[in-house]
Amino acid sequence: MSVTAVIGSQWGDEGKGKVVDFLAEGADYVARFNGGNNAGHTVINQFGTFKIHLVPSGIFAPNTVGLIGGGVVIDPAVLIDEIEMLNQAAVGVQGRLWLSPRAHLILPYHKILDGLYEEAKGAGATGTTRRGIGPVFADKVSYNGIRFYDFGRTDVLVARLKMQIELKNKIVLALGGEALRFDEVLETYRGYYEKLKPYLRELFSLVQDGLKADKNFLLEQAMGTFLDTDWGTYPFVTASTTIPSAASAGLGIPPRYITHVVGVTKAYTTRVGAGPLPTEIHDTSTQAYQQFGETAATTGRTRRVGWLDLEIVRTAVELSGISELCLTKLDVLSGLDEIQVCLGYKLNGKDVRYADVDSYGLDEVKLVYKKMTGWQEDISQARSFDELPKNAQEYVQMIEAAAGVPVKWIGVGPEREATIRR
Ligand code: IMP
Repeated sequence: MSVTAVIGSQWGDEGKGKVVDFLAEGADYVARFNGGNNAGHTVINQFGTFKIHLVPSGIFAPNTVGLIGGGVVIDPAVLIDEIEMLNQAAVGVQGRLWLSPRAHLILPYHKILDGLYEEAKGAGATGTTRRGIGPVFADKVSYNGIRFYDFGRTDVLVARLKMQIELKNKIVLALGGEALRFDEVLETYRGYYEKLKPYLRELFSLVQDGLKADKNFLLEQAMGTFLDTDWGTYPFVTASTTIPSAASAGLGIPPRYITHVVGVTKAYTTRVGAGPLPTEIHDTSTQAYQQFGETAATTGRTRRVGWLDLEIVRTAVELSGISELCLTKLDVLSGLDEIQVCLGYKLNGKDVRYADVDSYGLDEVKLVYKKMTGWQEDISQARSFDELPKNAQEYVQMIEAAAGVPVKWIGVGPEREATIRR
């Protein structure tokens, strides 16, 4: 039996979708345990190019069973679209994708409130994806949430939803938004429930039986370590726990069963939304800025970019118990004469760790940089470590030395095959 958690070691968008897609070949179960459709995973394989937000990226491996745990918040319209898209692309998911009825639903007022809160915060806004994530998790932990389970009990659903809509309409109206109609929301969501019914199933026995039968589980984190509500750059974080322990509450896998934690690290750093990014490159005219530039899979926003920050990677390794790293997008660095890497932080002349300062303090630390000579060769066809230019090899070895764990996979292109396995 193996239970492997795939964890982003930065601020999300490390390329976890591709990593899960190729690791899924050996998995029996592929599972999501946190977040919602704020996540966007890009997968390119023999079926085509997909941007998926809720269904585990490992679903493309034909023998896997996909699980969406109760720790995931669900926008049912998005999940229905995704299921239809996969079925149309001949990735049949009926009978092998299961959604926990413990999962909370994102309702229209969550999305409206997400937008209204962001606007009210003005310059202090988080830069959320506006998918309703903060408000739905707030409702979950303040006992105001609506779960799929509730749809099986009409009296419970009607009473709870009606109450929530009355309550939320007061807040929405006070913030200048438009009130929602209970009947409309109820009817729409009942329609969604009917479509998702064939996929709903309590996961407890499935997971427990799988563990007892020595099955292989692949756990796919959404977002990254530094968007974790507790350990990320609060308040510029997401509303769920993103470190591997979240798989325990969000899927029902006890922590002691997790055998491997694969950290996914992009060869540089990106971040979407507000909050500290210590190694950020602000000069948009530089070659590095232009090469690192990306568009977010979920919102289409331009990502902020920066050099690789090894203090961030090292902290993620410690915090999440990462046992091996997958370095992604090494090919994007090709062509740079010089590559900078942040080795650590100093404050008032003293070494400080990420965890020693708060989010605002991260804007005040001095960064200790190492400059490395780059490589000019196109490395996208390399399939073994030996085929990489010497400077690229040194870059990888430097990351291993700083992180204290091996780099087992190196991504040199977006396709599944464009991966060096060591
Ligand atoms: P929320 O999760 O939509 O509430 O957004 C909170 C913060 O997390 C914002 O800075 C978002 O840009 C960021 N965020 C949420 N999901 C992702 C993701 O999948 N990748 C990168 N950043 C994300």
